[in-house]
Amino acid sequence: MSLFNVYPLNPIAITKANGSRVWDDKGQEYLDMYGGHAVISIGHTHPHWVKRIEDQLHQIAFYSNSVIMPIQEELAKAINEISGKKDFQLFLCNSGAEANENALKLASFHTGRKKIIAFKKAFHGRTSLAVAATDNPSIIAPVNETDNIIFLPFNDIDALDACFKQNENNIAAVIIEGIQGVAGIHEASNAFLQAIRKNCDQFGAVYIADSVQCGYGRSGKFFAHDFAGVHADIYSMAKGMGNGFPVGAILIAPHIQAKFGMLGTTFGGNPLACAAALGVIEVMQKDHLIQNAQEQGDYLINALRNIKGVKTVRGKGLMIGFEMEEGLEDVRKVLLNDCKIFTGEAKPNVIRLLPSLAITKTDIDLFLKGLQQAIALLHQ
Ligand SMILES: Cc1ncc(COP(=O)(O)O)c(C=O)c1O
Repeated sequence: MSLFNVYPLNPIAITKANGSRVWDDKGQEYLDMYGGHAVISIGHTHPHWVKRIEDQLHQIAFYSNSVIMPIQEELAKAINEISGKKDFQLFLCNSGAEANENALKLASFHTGRKKIIAFKKAFHGRTSLAVAATDNPSIIAPVNETDNIIFLPFNDIDALDACFKQNENNIAAVIIEGIQGVAGIHEASNAFLQAIRKNCDQFGAVYIADSVQCGYGRSGKFFAHDFAGVHADIYSMAKGMGNGFPVGAILIAPHIQAKFGMLGTTFGGNPLACAAALGVIEVMQKDHLIQNAQEQGDYLINALRNIKGVKTVRGKGLMIGFEMEEGLEDVRKVLLNDCKIFTGEAKPNVIRLLPSLAITKTDIDLFLKGLQQAIALLHQ
């Protein structure tokens, strides 16, 4: 049987990983500045995380959500503490799309409304509502088309205010990435996030902070939305949460009340996923990885701005996008093939850096050297 051919693949088979390094099946080493698409938060195969999962595997890997699972409560407490969202409630699921799907559904249940505001170039996942709120018609199947989503320009407060006024009390939720990832690293301005908060308060809508990519410490704060100094009503999380173990969740403000059967999942919150997620938080706290993301991110962003050939640099912490000057569009390919460095991409022509939050200055310097080498090779 063949694999369903939906991914344009690099012809590299990765078979081993450690920290910020991966190796292919021929033993070639690569520096991972892509973090498996922003997933690797504490570093590949971190020994504490491996042990946490291993120990749990010997206890119990799975039981359904029909019984009390103390490890879920332990995780809820740990997330409350590290995120600073003290009285928020936790619903566990398995992926980013599922987190957003549940967030949107919950907002609609809570308000009794149907309309959702999303933004140009947004990406929220591939399940039905999440993909409908994603601004990419090529991945929206006819069955996912709905006129319940209103797309507005990103960072445009006037358009947001006007839309709320026009739709009076019909808006269930606003969903927004704190830093748009797939779109090529574009930050929501603090003023814009504050305007979302204000409108949601005034019109009784739910502010959903999609933190699947920009959350979990990647920006240098636990949530990128925190830079604006206002709370959202629901935060969706996934990627960095399990460091590669599939786990997602939403954090739900205390005023949103649960009802039996409102949300549910078979696998979400299983003990193995909770152990992986706890392992991540323990390492993040012990090694001060959010602070590291901020410090190394500042260093990397500043260094990139001083490299000849780099046109623009955007982002916060270790969620960085940069564009190259004309003639250097192939730099990503050269970085991978010649310098053995993985980076991410976003169209058109944006290179995304989403390394482990534990990355060291030495590895960042190695990347910067590689980038300069790649630029020199393209100039030859
Ligand atoms: C901002 C954002 N939301 C949601 C998702 C979907 O997450 P998943 O692929 O885990 O379903 C992604 C994935 O890239 C994302 O970047």
